[in-house]
Amino acid sequence: MSDKHKNHEQHEEHYDEVMGMKQGHGKVPRFLIITYAVLAVWAVGYALTAKGIDERPAGGEAAQGVSVEKGKGLSGQCVACHGADLKGGMGPSLYGIVDKLKPEGVKDVLTKGRGSMPALGASWTEEQKDSMVEFLKTLK
Ligand code: HEC
Repeated sequence: MSDKHKNHEQHEEHYDEVMGMKQGHGKVPRFLIITYAVLAVWAVGYALTAKGIDERPAGGEAAQGVSVEKGKGLSGQCVACHGADLKGGMGPSLYGIVDKLKPEGVKDVLTKGRGSMPALGASWTEEQKDSMVEFLKTLK
């Protein structure tokens, strides 16, 4: 048991010596392996980040286009009447509304209003209305 411990110590000394001389007998010092690993991770991360910036369209195009996320953002204007989860409040539930009214019907209500429903979408772009429809489709 104590012999084994001694051997271990000797091995450690030998290792330090090799490190000190910056010579590996075919062995790569552990700190270098760690450094390379960290660098590799960083490089991949950097490459991905750089790509993201390149892919971002110039003239703020990202602000346009249709997306569920955008519709979800706009739905903040609906919760006061349709309920925090849009399952109904003073206004009716919006679950399954796209199946019921079809996208055109929903956009019609948004653009023109109906009864106590204000024409909130009157000033919205077509992309915003389509985004709202895409988001409402996710309520099932
Ligand atoms: C000021 C309250 C209010 C706000 C804000 C509001 N709504 Fe409404 N909404 C209503 C009411 C009330 C009705 C029922 C209208 C009626 O009498 O037919 C309604 C109806 C609707 C309908 C038709 C429902 C059906 O079953 O035919 C849709 C679609 C709708 N709202 C979508 C929205 C969306 C999307 C928003 C957010 C952008 C929104 N509403 C914001 C009050 C509101």
